[in-house]
Amino acid sequence: MKVYNVLHYGAPEKVLSLTEAEQPAPKNTEVLVKVRATTINDYDWCVTTGKPFAYRLFFGIFRPRNKLMIPGMEVAGIVEQVGNNVTKFKAGDAVYGDISDFGFGSFAEFLCIDEKALARKPDSMSFEEATSIPHAAMLALQGLRDVGKIQDGQKVLINGGGGGVGSFGLQLAKLYNANVTGVDTGEKLKAMKTQGFDTVIDYKKEDFTKSDQQYDLILDCKTSRSLWRFLKVLKPEGRYVSIGGRSGKLLQMIYMGPMLKLFSKKRLYMVTLRANKDLEYINKLYEDNKINCVIDGPYTFDKIPWAIQRFGDGLHHGKIVISVN
Ligand SMILES: NC(=O)c1ccc[n+]([C@@H]2O[C@H](COP(=O)([O-])OP(=O)(O)OC[C@H]3O[C@@H](n4cnc5c(N)ncnc54)[C@H](OP(=O)(O)O)[C@@H]3O)[C@@H](O)[C@H]2O)c1
Repeated sequence: MKVYNVLHYGAPEKVLSLTEAEQPAPKNTEVLVKVRATTINDYDWCVTTGKPFAYRLFFGIFRPRNKLMIPGMEVAGIVEQVGNNVTKFKAGDAVYGDISDFGFGSFAEFLCIDEKALARKPDSMSFEEATSIPHAAMLALQGLRDVGKIQDGQKVLINGGGGGVGSFGLQLAKLYNANVTGVDTGEKLKAMKTQGFDTVIDYKKEDFTKSDQQYDLILDCKTSRSLWRFLKVLKPEGRYVSIGGRSGKLLQMIYMGPMLKLFSKKRLYMVTLRANKDLEYINKLYEDNKINCVIDGPYTFDKIPWAIQRFGDGLHHGKIVISVN
């Protein structure tokens, strides 16, 4: 089978090599999946480029450890073979999931992964749509509903609204009749407006933390500013929920969060992803035509290095999807 390996850190188009590998065999609770589609995520950019440098403490100092050499953390495909103790699936089942709790390696024609990393794919959902869902939709849902406690008719802002999380975030917020502002840049703003954002703001031209607008809930996909600035644009009982960003700013939340409770009803939170937790709920929304998948691509398997660079350059709108045939 063909797999992508990161041999050392650098520009994706230089360091990712397509090589032949032996097809793996599933252990006890694992299934062998024939990969039909996968996606590009922040993780793939970081493990390929080795940046931010601090991540190398986890990935490996000079190159990714053996277990991380094949990137890719979302998959949709067909179960080919099951391990002796597998109970959820049989050969021929169509599945999808975020595999990051159990390993990585979806930039390959086949992969073995624990059955707990996968859910059944609805028949009406294509493999390309399915693979675009788990990571971004779970972060958006857990950020808005579980942590942000979104309420009907609220005023919501999604910072980084043009990416994978933002496109699901908008649709989920609209189920609560929210008025949604999206912050991003470039060509994406037009597509975001078409997708249904009530207001869009170009972060390269305007700083929304300096405006007089206030929000009940801010979902931040790219925490990059001082947190004090977000407090100014939160309503008196508003919630700011970060799903990721610069480590210094995220650390700031750890000491600012409890301090804030002493003098304000505004709240700061961070989401800790629980992978695949509510895929059944998302499947139901999809089958009821309440959400759709915003896909950049799909691109072919040979385009993976180029697609990771595209992700790093921030040129995508929605999820970058790769078809593997
Ligand atoms: N909490 C957890 O457990 C957990 C787990 C895994 C991942 N994550 C995080 O989840 C996030 C992934 O979100 P995603 O998939 O939606 O990423 P994405 O597809 O890259 O979308 C992020 C969007 O934000 C835009 N952006 C960049 N800088 C910005 C700024 N200063 N202000 C406003 N927008 C900005 C980007 O556009 P341009 O680049 O074109 O400017 C891009 O369109 C990452 O931050 C990752 O670290 C969290």
